[in-house]
Amino acid sequence: MSETSQNSRILAIETSCDETSAAVVEDGRTILSNIIASQVDLHAQFGGVFPEVASRRHIEVIHAVVQQALEEAHMGLDNMDCIAVTRGPGLVGSLLVGVNMAKGLALARNKPFLGINHIEGHIYSLWLTEHVDEIEFPILTLVVSGGHTELYLMTDHGQYQHLGGTLDDAAGEAFDKVGRLLGLPFPGGPAIDKLAPSGSATAYKFPRAVMDDGYNFSFSGLKTAVSRQIKHFDKARLPVEDLAASFQTAVVDVLVAKTARAAEAYGVTAVHLSGGVSANKELRETMQTQLPLPVRYPPPILCTDNAAMIGAAAHWHFVNGRRDTLNIDVIPSLQLI
Ligand code: KG4
Ligand code: ZN
Repeated sequence: MSETSQNSRILAIETSCDETSAAVVEDGRTILSNIIASQVDLHAQFGGVFPEVASRRHIEVIHAVVQQALEEAHMGLDNMDCIAVTRGPGLVGSLLVGVNMAKGLALARNKPFLGINHIEGHIYSLWLTEHVDEIEFPILTLVVSGGHTELYLMTDHGQYQHLGGTLDDAAGEAFDKVGRLLGLPFPGGPAIDKLAPSGSATAYKFPRAVMDDGYNFSFSGLKTAVSRQIKHFDKARLPVEDLAASFQTAVVDVLVAKTARAAEAYGVTAVHLSGGVSANKELRETMQTQLPLPVRYPPPILCTDNAAMIGAAAHWHFVNGRRDTLNIDVIPSLQLI
């Protein structure tokens, strides 16, 4: 994909998991609005995202969320150049709500329509930050979220080489599972992030699954090790802070080691972090102190799922002439490449 100076104003919709979000994004870099209706309280009682409940809630709020995104941007649908929506990966029922809404709007107003990959959205969240003018390819981009831990070499807009990914649990999934084991509220990631500074990262020696000299990750052994360690304690007297700190450092160590090695091997200009886990303070700080090149990450609100990042990714497709037909379907296991 080559860069052009063409402008765009995009209404983007994201409903792949448990946030209902709509945004208006200009030229792939300016957020005019970014409304996020989180369902986290709804799912906390189940200790995880309940797919049926998620899709039903998306249906209830999607109209109001889209309306609010347009209102906050002081615009109507007629001002939009394109309607973009997350097509996958994600939960099938949740994706369907967003895709059907976007198709309906595109059809009613005869607007171009684009189905966007959620992972690409996370990658493009960096184009919505103050770093946008400093970005120079090639870049190493690590997507760490509840569903993904993927390392890509990005050589141009839309040009990716997949270097590695998780073989089992995603980093965020490991945080959520360990959070549950520690009796913390869902989602576990932010709760562990908050508690870890009060604990000792060296209290327990949890495994770092570096496996081979490739760029794949594995976190399920780490989760099992935490679970085994917990069995040594009376449930009421769990050293939660020390366990959280030791677990978090084990995750961060592996993510940093592999990212640093790839950054050196591919001679990139910078490392980009994105996805929910990139909000993690220890991950951000360790990457910045240990890597000899710029490490960039989005503000917390753009780390977790939001529609603005979908609008940012859609911009590059739109200005390069891509248009999708309204016949496209959701793809729950959509790959980036
Ligand atoms: O990107 P995201 O909102 O959804 C997916 O695409 O999966 O990521 C959600 C994940 C959850 O697993 C959550 O626990 C994790 O991101 N997360 C964090 C933090 N904030 C969110 N993990 C570690 N530290 C955080 N501060
Ligand atoms: Zn996500």
